[in-house]
Amino acid sequence: MKIRITILCENLVGRLVGSGEHGFSAFIETDRGNYLFDTGGGRSIVSNSLILNKDLKSIKQIFLSHGHYDHTGGLSEVLKVKGKADVHAHPHVFLDRIAVLKEEDRETKRFIGIHYKRRYLESLGAHFILNTDFTEVEKGLFLTGEVPRQTTFEKPDPRLFSEMDGKTTHDLFLDDQSLVLDTDKGIVLILGCAHAGMINIIHHVINKMGKENFHAILGGTHLDFLTPEQLEESIKLLKKMEVQKIGVSHCTGMRAAFRLHQEFGDRFFYGCVGSVLEV
Ligand SMILES: [Fe+2]
Ligand SMILES: [Fe+2]
Repeated sequence: MKIRITILCENLVGRLVGSGEHGFSAFIETDRGNYLFDTGGGRSIVSNSLILNKDLKSIKQIFLSHGHYDHTGGLSEVLKVKGKADVHAHPHVFLDRIAVLKEEDRETKRFIGIHYKRRYLESLGAHFILNTDFTEVEKGLFLTGEVPRQTTFEKPDPRLFSEMDGKTTHDLFLDDQSLVLDTDKGIVLILGCAHAGMINIIHHVINKMGKENFHAILGGTHLDFLTPEQLEESIKLLKKMEVQKIGVSHCTGMRAAFRLHQEFGDRFFYGCVGSVLEV
């Protein structure tokens, strides 16, 4: 399977065209059709798709990594262009989400969940297919479903909360799932925000695929928002794995990206708007 992955939405711009925004989206072209993983926050996906020459109408299926607004906010815009489309996600993608942040010595609460009601998105053409388990969506293309939390050092972001049955609790992010492409050169893993823990996700993929060779790991890793210990422990384990390319984006953060570059050298690249990986 020939694959070309283009970063459509990301915090930074890399090829002198397009707009950056806090969010993530990857456009995946294959011999069998085109797919969209996440939709960014909504401000840049349509304009970036036009300027990068990626036809949103050609998308066969849409995948959502989790319910945060910066990954789901562009879904309505994509549907307005595309019309009817299968949208794969975990059932918790529709939960209300809140971030409690300390800003200028004040505590602020922000709504960071999906901005649209399911029925509105369905009225625009979304056909939701909800999964909780590791699923082969099409031949060679998998969604991880819920990821078992096994490492001791990967902890959920303590600033993030979700609401279920009227109760607000720390967000467990059961909906956090990643996309797996089984290629001739090895596995290509695309992360959304890796709220389940990057190493937990990799272990889950190895376990389910029965393979350990990763051609590339792309997307948001959330490494910079957590403790320095978690970052260093993640890097230590990552270095022991068979990973040929690591192209992080979005919630990885600059500090963690620099550390990954230090450790992985030429195998590292930053995935910004317009970055392309060809397999
Ligand atoms: Fe994110
Ligand atoms: Fe997120």
